[in-house]
Parts: sequence; structure tokens; C-alpha cells
Amino acid sequence: MNKIGIIGCGRQAPKHINGYLGNGIKDIYLSDVDEDKAKKLAMEYGLKHLTYDEIINSKEITTYSICTPPETHDLIIDDLIEKEKNFLCEKPISQNIDKLHKYEKSIAKKKLVAMGGYIYKFSPAHIHAKKLIENTDANTIQKAYFRIASPGSNAPWQFSKKLGGGVINEMVVHIIDLVQWYFGDIKEIKNVSKKIYLEHRIKTLNDTDELAEDYVHIKLITKSNIEVEIEADLISSEFIQYVQFNSKEFECFLSIQPNLPLQLKYQNKSLDLCKFFEFQNLYIYQIEYFLQCVNKNKTQEISTMRESIAIARTINEIIDL
Ligand SMILES: NC(=O)c1ccc[n+]([C@@H]2O[C@H](COP(=O)([O-])OP(=O)(O)OC[C@H]3O[C@@H](n4cnc5c(N)ncnc54)[C@H](O)[C@@H]3O)[C@@H](O)[C@H]2O)c1
Repeated sequence: MNKIGIIGCGRQAPKHINGYLGNGIKDIYLSDVDEDKAKKLAMEYGLKHLTYDEIINSKEITTYSICTPPETHDLIIDDLIEKEKNFLCEKPISQNIDKLHKYEKSIAKKKLVAMGGYIYKFSPAHIHAKKLIENTDANTIQKAYFRIASPGSNAPWQFSKKLGGGVINEMVVHIIDLVQWYFGDIKEIKNVSKKIYLEHRIKTLNDTDELAEDYVHIKLITKSNIEVEIEADLISSEFIQYVQFNSKEFECFLSIQPNLPLQLKYQNKSLDLCKFFEFQNLYIYQIEYFLQCVNKNKTQEISTMRESIAIARTINEIIDL
């Protein structure tokens, strides 16, 4: 039975804990630079907490979730790869393309499983829509619009340029992952328009830091010639996520949110559909897949380091434009 280490005990950690518990794994150890946070979360779930050195060096723990802010991922990943550990790292794994290439080589050499936390691909609505689209004429879709929005958390790093926050790193990464998954590689970023609306957040940052954008509108084109529009923000009062795919004869609307049904209209083949998907804990599915790969019951094909490299390339280009 796998023994699990979770590094970082903030907002994401309980989702990972529940993901492992939902897969019948109870041997979970927690760690955080802020020991009180690890202690508190461990008490809440009846788990043990360890220091960073203890969790990384444990001989029994072979499989980890990294749930720390993006800027801390690289150092933790270096340690985990050196110790030959498998890991599921929250998105974005890294913005450093050289590092990502290095990780890709080392994990292949050491036969480790390293997965990015791109969870939307585990949504039953998205899986259903992808199959429907694959069963139609692939040239059917001409345009796609992806919307994602969130109020963000109270953690100052979320809005900090220096600490890898901002709407592009926090939200757009999920969408770039979905675009690649649905339509393949991206050919060109056509236009990027960025804004900072909630300027008062500067008060949460230290003097040498800057606010990262909290709104972005992006136009890009895929190698399969689909025009994609992405609108993302960290200013909305509620989480929102939906997608629209269009052509002359095809319309599809869907979301990971269970209160929004998958709707499909396809004139020629009368595939019309309006389908609600019950709420599912996507972390249980994501971690089930991760564990299957770790336990060699599956070869990893989802959220690989290769995909993370392609995402990081696009994200860095969007940030630089
Ligand atoms: N998949 C998703 O939908 C989703 C949603 C939100 C956040 N995230 C990602 O999850 C990650 C964590 O986000 P969060 O909202 O939980 O952040 P958070 O700020 O709530 O929690 C991060 C925790 O990590 C701890 N920490 C910081 N540096 C550390 C280190 N070097 N070693 C150990 N602990 C350390 C902090 O003390 C804090 O408790 C980020 O990469 C973020 O982008 C993913």
C-alpha cells in the first residue's frame, strides 16, 4: 500500500488528502514550512505531520503531492527526483523550460512518475465532450471560447509577480492545458490584452514586489487552425468556468461546474444533447490515475512533463507579450 507525503498544507492540501482517502489510502504524512499549519491539518484529518527533511528522506514514503506556491516547486522537485520519489505537483509545475527538460530526462532515467495537477481533464463533462467531438468531423469546430474566473485566495503570492501568481499562472494554465488536450499544439498567439483591476491588492505585497495581472484576454490559433479565445480573471466574486465550441453547424457548451449542463447542437447528425453531470470529486479521479501509474498498472499518458513543457512555453510567451 502506498505511503503518501503531502508538502504544503494550505488551500489545496485538503483536496489532495480527500483524493487519497477516496482511493482507500490512509497512510498520509503532511509537511509545511509553517509547522503549525501542518499540525492543524494533521489533527483535523487524524494524520501525522513531519518536518520537510523527515518527509523527503523517509524510506517508506515513495509518493508525494506538492501543494506549495508555484515559486517553491522547483527546489522541492529537485529534492524529490534526487531521492527517486514519484510526485503529483500542483500546476504550474514550473515556468523554467530548462528545468522542465531536465526533469523530463531524470524521471525517464529513474523511471519515476511525475504528473502535473491539470485536473480539468478528469471532469466527466470534458471527457464526454471530447469523445463527442472526436466522433464528429474533426474539421467541424472552427472557434472555441474558454472562460475561467475566480476571486482567488487570501494568500498574497496569488497576486504577486515575483512569487509566480497572477491570472495567467493561476488560471490560464488550466485553459492552455485544455486547449492542447482538445485540439493539439498551439501555432500562434495572436493577441494578448492584460489588466490589473484590483490595485488595492498591492498592500498585501512587500515593497520590492509588483502586482501580477488579474484579467487577461487572449486570442490564439492552434496548428489544427481552430481560433481560440480565452478570457480569465482573478476578480470575480464566484468561480466560473465554461467553454463554447462553434462552427456553422455545430454548437457545444460545457463546464466543470455540475449546475451547468453539457449542451450540444449538431444539425447534420442530430446529436442534440442537454446533459447534467452529477458533482464528482475530481481529485479522487486524478489521484486514482496517478496511483495507477505509480503502481505500474497504467503507463502515464495524461499530464506528462512533455505537456507541462508545452504549457510553460505558451504561458511564458503570453506573459512576455
Ligand atoms: N488545481 C487547481 O484547481 C488549483 C487551485 C488552486 C491552487 N492550485 C495550485 O496549488 C498550489 C498551492 O496553492 P494553495 O492555494 O494551496 O496555496 P496556499 O498558499 O493556500 O498554501 C500553500 C502552503 O504551502 C506552504 N509552503 C510554502 N512554501 C513551502 C515549502 N517550501 N515547503 C513546504 N511548505 C511550503 C505554505 O506555508 C502554505 O501553507 C499552487 O501551485 C497553486 O497554483 C491549484
